[in-house]
Amino acid sequence: MTNKNSIGKETPNRLFAAATTAMENAHAPYSGFTVGAALLTDSGDIITGCNVENASYGATICAERTAIAAAVAQGHKSFSAICVTTTAATPTPPCGICRQTLIEFNPNMTVICRSQNGKEKTYSAGDLLPHAFTADDL
Ligand code: THU
Repeated sequence: MTNKNSIGKETPNRLFAAATTAMENAHAPYSGFTVGAALLTDSGDIITGCNVENASYGATICAERTAIAAAVAQGHKSFSAICVTTTAATPTPPCGICRQTLIEFNPNMTVICRSQNGKEKTYSAGDLLPHAFTADDL
């Protein structure tokens, strides 16, 4: 056991590698800020996403939500971890909308933020969005 979600020792490295490949596919001509994400499903699959920007800037979708949308479309709804990577000098945390999207699926999801220079910070989705609005509030 390496953390409260029991994702295993090598899993963060595998997720980071997958997130890096996805980051290289990002469509970020406006910000130049490329982001990759790799989700671990409870069935052990890794599903990736990258940010996809648009000339109508507000139509941009972040890497984390791209990964979630791809995973759901492929039939997955249970996730134990996500790794987010960018080329920034410090680990990039998910934005607010992405935090809301992650918590929808699992407040205990491990969120590994690892920059390409190897710096890393790990949180749970719940840590990143305390007092969240969830289905329980409906
Ligand atoms: N971005 C992500 O992909 N994930 C985040 O959590 C933060 C921001 C993207 C959106 C946009 O394409 C670029 O990074 C700059 O904000």
